[in-house]
Amino acid sequence: MRVMSIQGSFGLEHLRPEERPEPPAPARGQVLVRVRAASLNYRDLLTVVGVYNPRQRLPLVPCSDGCGEVLAVGEGVTRVKPGDRVITCFAQGWPAGDLTRDRARTTLGGPLDGVLQERMLLDEGGVVRAPAHLTDVEAATLSCAGLTAWTALTSGGVGPGDVVLTQGTGGVSIFALQLARLMGARVIVTSSSDEKLARARALGAWETINYRTTPAWGARARELTGGRGVDHVVEVGGADTLAQSILAARPGAQVSLIGILSGTTTPLDLVSVLMQGVRIQGVLVGHRDALEALARAVEAHALRPVVDRTFPWTEARAALEHLQAGRHVGKVGVEL
Ligand SMILES: NC(=O)c1ccc[n+]([C@@H]2O[C@H](COP(=O)([O-])OP(=O)(O)OC[C@H]3O[C@@H](n4cnc5c(N)ncnc54)[C@H](OP(=O)(O)O)[C@@H]3O)[C@@H](O)[C@H]2O)c1
Repeated sequence: MRVMSIQGSFGLEHLRPEERPEPPAPARGQVLVRVRAASLNYRDLLTVVGVYNPRQRLPLVPCSDGCGEVLAVGEGVTRVKPGDRVITCFAQGWPAGDLTRDRARTTLGGPLDGVLQERMLLDEGGVVRAPAHLTDVEAATLSCAGLTAWTALTSGGVGPGDVVLTQGTGGVSIFALQLARLMGARVIVTSSSDEKLARARALGAWETINYRTTPAWGARARELTGGRGVDHVVEVGGADTLAQSILAARPGAQVSLIGILSGTTTPLDLVSVLMQGVRIQGVLVGHRDALEALARAVEAHALRPVVDRTFPWTEARAALEHLQAGRHVGKVGVEL
């Protein structure tokens, strides 16, 4: 069977097709999945270029988020049956509870081989039934970006009437916009592009701020809430955005620290955090039970993830370059 793998050394030019033996019949507790679609994350790009984990052993099949059909199941499998459509869990060994170091080592697309392969064997606990109304690519977007936004918002107890601020219009942030609206919150979206902000308004954003033309967007967000401040910030910018996020936040707000798009270290005025009791909460995707809860919510509300563009999997490199260029809104998909 064919896979796409990073071969020899890191770099987009080293992502190439490879022929591998068919997986064996599923053993006890395992499922064999025919992968039909994948969705890309910024992490996949960082993995392929060797920034995410430079010590990762190669060859590696990248990408964590897949959707496919169960072809066969091993003895004792009860969660799914042949013919079911499933999505892959980002961390294969994290069913529920807190993240541990061992659980963090079970992520697809590094250190474990990811979903850019025609067929793959997984433990039954590493897959979740896909919502019926979604296409394969749409369903694949839930594994990481969807679940990360869900974990952030649910851990922050977002509810009706809250104001959530999201940064940019990438995969995680657009999911956060859609899910926060589903939870009854109003959403302020920031972006570098007025065109993308118009898309965000069409998707239900309450207010929008261009962070290029309004560098003091934290104060602007506070103004938009009548001086109260926002209840929750979905922080994906990292180094260059955290200080503005804290300025935007109301006392007691949660800043969900998810991304580091602009860097990993920043001087921070600690007084502003402690005097306002702001909670900075690190988020790492989420566990399987949360993915199941997300899939139920998405199905119940017929929510459709926003897919910017889909590529054939043989053009995975072009798909990653599209993600790298940053012109997308929402998710970039790959069809196998
Ligand atoms: N912790 C976790 O569990 C987790 C899970 C998923 C992703 N992440 C991380 O979260 C970040 C976003 O991931 P993604 O998959 O959503 O990425 P993405 O789809 O590539 O989206 C990136 C978008 O973020 C915006 N952006 C870029 N630099 C920014 C800045 N300095 N300030 C504000 N916005 C900025 C841009 O939107 P505009 O063009 O609209 O300005 C850009 O299009 C990445 O760092 C990723 O590694 C973390």
